[in-house]
Amino acid sequence: MNSSRLLSRRQTLQALAGITATGALASALPAFAASPTPLKDLAAEKGLLFGSAVGAGKPGTLTGSFENARYRELLKAECNVLVAENEHKIYVIANQPDRYDFEPADRLTNFALENGMKMRGHTLFWNRVDFLPQWVLNYDFGPFPAIEGERFLRDYIETVCNHYKGRIYSWDVVNETIDPQTGLVRDTPFTKAMGFDALRVAYEAAREYAPGTELVYNDYMGWEKGNETHRNGVLKLLEKFKKENVPIDAFGVQSHLGNDGRIDNIQHKEWKAFIDEIVGMGYNLLITELDVNDKDLPADIKTRDAQQAAVTKDYLDFMLSYPQLKAVLCWGLVDNYSWLQGFAPRADGKPQRPTPYDTDFKPKPIREAIAAAFKAAPAR
Ligand code: XIL
Repeated sequence: MNSSRLLSRRQTLQALAGITATGALASALPAFAASPTPLKDLAAEKGLLFGSAVGAGKPGTLTGSFENARYRELLKAECNVLVAENEHKIYVIANQPDRYDFEPADRLTNFALENGMKMRGHTLFWNRVDFLPQWVLNYDFGPFPAIEGERFLRDYIETVCNHYKGRIYSWDVVNETIDPQTGLVRDTPFTKAMGFDALRVAYEAAREYAPGTELVYNDYMGWEKGNETHRNGVLKLLEKFKKENVPIDAFGVQSHLGNDGRIDNIQHKEWKAFIDEIVGMGYNLLITELDVNDKDLPADIKTRDAQQAAVTKDYLDFMLSYPQLKAVLCWGLVDNYSWLQGFAPRADGKPQRPTPYDTDFKPKPIREAIAAAFKAAPAR
């Protein structure tokens, strides 16, 4: 709630009750005073979008946040942009050959648009064998693989982009195509068939079939030690995209903080050099999947929360110093729906606390850190 609204409620109540003493008033209004300004409003004041991933999976599962009415209310209260956690991926849209299923993705997209939020798309081409459906991995590209590969990618991207015409403002066209171990483009049936052109075709098709949409390259290289090869590989890729005029508008920094098991071995200088180079090439920036992996942090909740909040504030202060950064999205808003509960469970069996809200939907220090960083950020 913003202060002008607070003031008018206060004035109204004062008038109604005839209360003039501030002490009496303060005790009459604790609930109003405690409710924080929505993150989307703090973001909007600085020309930013704020949002979250949401999943249309089975109710009660990690990917089923959308089925929880409280979660939907929280999204409406805090966000002005949403992204589907899995529903726009090929393994949902085209899990079987010759059969498109847009139903779960449409449920999320319609919810966002009907509630005045923007929708991001994630992702048209996750060029990684672990996340391509079996029928695609087995696909026979025939005697002219480069031609058939291009036809396949163009057809898929055309179908998806036509389905969402004008409704998705920003697409992660290619996701995670750099192998963190080698810094090279990952091998997949598409790169085997087409080489680098697999990536080029994906962006050209997206530009053609989703004109006016922000086109993003998205990856997870972190600012912690151990990410050097991954960062260098991403830089080389972004340079090549520029040199070859591949149509890309922005770089999506996933921002899964602490995903290498530590949140404290940060390479501030190297990270700054990395981001400087990227904005120097003319790319805008987005934080697309913010969360904090606390797998190796102390069990004590106060300590854990404080450490997570501190690293979030440090990270956001730095990233927000770039006017090129246009949006901040969390990978989920409530701890018990976080993918990290399954992907990176704690050794002590206690649940992770990677997001801004706890399981009871109470705001946590990570949320305060995001709010404080937005308040301190320069306008863009
Ligand atoms: C994850 C989802 O959260 C999981 O539900 C799913 O099983 C696997 O994918 N980087 C990405 C996201 O680009 O798509 C991933 O989402 C998290 C890491």
